[in-house]
Amino acid sequence: MQDEVAPPGVNINVPHSARIYDYWLGGKDNFAVDRAVGEAMIQAIPNLRFMAGENRRFIHRATRDLVKEQGIRQFLDVGTGIPTRPNLHEIAQELDPSSRVVYVDNDPIVLVHARALMVSHPDGRGEYISADLRDPQSILGDETLLATLDLTQPVGLTLIAILMLLADEDDPWATVAALRDALPSGSCLAITHPTGDFNPGEMSTAVKAATDAGLTLVARDREQVERFFGDWELLEPGLVPVSAWRPDEPSTDPEAAYYWSGVARKP
Ligand SMILES: C[S@@+](CC[C@H](N)C(=O)[O-])C[C@H]1O[C@@H](n2cnc3c(N)ncnc32)[C@H](O)[C@@H]1O
Repeated sequence: MQDEVAPPGVNINVPHSARIYDYWLGGKDNFAVDRAVGEAMIQAIPNLRFMAGENRRFIHRATRDLVKEQGIRQFLDVGTGIPTRPNLHEIAQELDPSSRVVYVDNDPIVLVHARALMVSHPDGRGEYISADLRDPQSILGDETLLATLDLTQPVGLTLIAILMLLADEDDPWATVAALRDALPSGSCLAITHPTGDFNPGEMSTAVKAATDAGLTLVARDREQVERFFGDWELLEPGLVPVSAWRPDEPSTDPEAAYYWSGVARKP
């Protein structure tokens, strides 16, 4: 095996979700431990790379529609991951260069690459903060966030492929509720979440491969995912498989990517 050099602060002896996901997306910011788990999960779900791609394409479509249809000009993206172009601010700023985005992640490797997330159009802003979703007040009270986003105006909160990394014991529903409560009417929440609903056998084998490697990974069913939206109103077409959320091209097999997805608006 080739010797691998760890960037400062990055532990390459234990697998990390951001790096495994980067591996599935064909990125270069992953290490042998990440590739081993990533491959074990692909053995369980042969469609996994396609699923990761479908998840990214959802981000593009949802961001685009939040800007165009809902008038959202400021975003809070928690669990950003290693920068993957186009990043959320690039999509929003293509439609309105004044869009502002605050990215949040707690993985040191994302911090190493955060500069790419802050290359904003001069009329807008892109900022990165290192914080943990399990402590929502540390995000909401962050100075950079408060200097970048106006929390009296609607915010697009994006929790894309992150909530499965929080255990039920951490009460991710309370965490998401705390973020929802801090945002004004007209704000929107976009979520994708892996599920065993479409192929329980493959999903449970993949979850076992991840948990055997020491990762927290929880697949959730439709009702559990729907609860993350609280009393916010799901936009059309509701909570649907990720490939079926306003697809650019209709999918012949929307359940081939095992993610629930939805976007809801605060009344
Ligand atoms: C699978 S990646 C998803 C990246 C991106 N949202 C996407 O869908 O393309 C999950 C990201 O969530 C981050 N993450 C996991 N737990 C977190 C936590 N408790 N607080 C903040 N970020 C977290 C990971 O570091 C990783 O970058």
